Amino acid sequence: MTDTHIDVFATGGTIAGTAGSATRRDYRPGQISVEDLLAEMAKLGLPARLVGRQFANIGSEDIGPELWRRLHEAAMESMADPACQGIMITHGTDTAEETAFLFDQTLPTAKPVVLVGAMRPADAVGSDGMRNFANAVRVAGDADAAGRGVLLVMSDHIFAARDARKARTEGTHAFRGFPRGPVGHVTPTSLEWFGPAWRVAEPARFAFHEHMPKVSILYAYAGMTADEVQQALDGGARGLVLAGFGQGNASAAIRAALAKAVLSGVPVVRSSRVDEGLVDHEPDDDTHGFIAARALGPPKARILLQLLLANGVTDPVSAQQAFDRR
Ligand code: DGL
Repeated sequence: MTDTHIDVFATGGTIAGTAGSATRRDYRPGQISVEDLLAEMAKLGLPARLVGRQFANIGSEDIGPELWRRLHEAAMESMADPACQGIMITHGTDTAEETAFLFDQTLPTAKPVVLVGAMRPADAVGSDGMRNFANAVRVAGDADAAGRGVLLVMSDHIFAARDARKARTEGTHAFRGFPRGPVGHVTPTSLEWFGPAWRVAEPARFAFHEHMPKVSILYAYAGMTADEVQQALDGGARGLVLAGFGQGNASAAIRAALAKAVLSGVPVVRSSRVDEGLVDHEPDDDTHGFIAARALGPPKARILLQLLLANGVTDPVSAQQAFDRR
């Protein structure tokens, strides 16, 4: 039996980070090259042929459209390469859910695409990087990982991109899945899926665009005034995401300003600043033309609204369907 061929796209993050000392608190992400990461992996003797490519070596707070375009292009090439069976992307955890969700919506589901990161740098005591990496190799090399959209592997859990959220600032169990929780469990020696694939042989849902319309997130707080809505519009926002109270609520003044924005052709998505729970479509949304984010938190709601705008989907009913979809 030949080894599984997996393309590994490296972008940096803590999984490639070092502190230079096991007792130092601060560290720098993006210090170890993909060659060195793969050389470490080779020592484990996993039955996989890993083909590495360094796209960047940065903290994921600096990731954005230009790097996304290069990664997306490469992923499409790997999708078309009959020799390649799976794709892995090493990534900082801070924005991993955004990259994962963007590619989840803009890549076909024909082959596994797996993001992996770490919460502790490579030279920390109890570093999680190599274990997460070995787990991700197992997932990316499993044919049954295809048809589930983009996946994120952390702390022996497999999350679907749509569900994955960074929910803790520290500790190795920093990610949670909402509303589904993990879709599978993986260790370097085992892999278990919690159900069948739900997106088998799906084409990309949206075309990828490097230059997407600007969408701003408005974070609600007590005492917020409506001029913040106007400032976002004056700053060029073509769409707005409310990170509202509770189930996507805001004061009467903010709601009125948002309703006015919709009337001027700027779509508005209501999401929540609360970490978990649905924001459902309400009768009032029909009155004002608002879209309910459902299970998506503000960062992913922003990406989905950008994709809708970039692909010419502006009517609230079609937009709502995109938010309702698994
Ligand atoms: N700045 C962070 C990033 O690259 C480092 C944290 C991490 O990778 O977990 O996202």
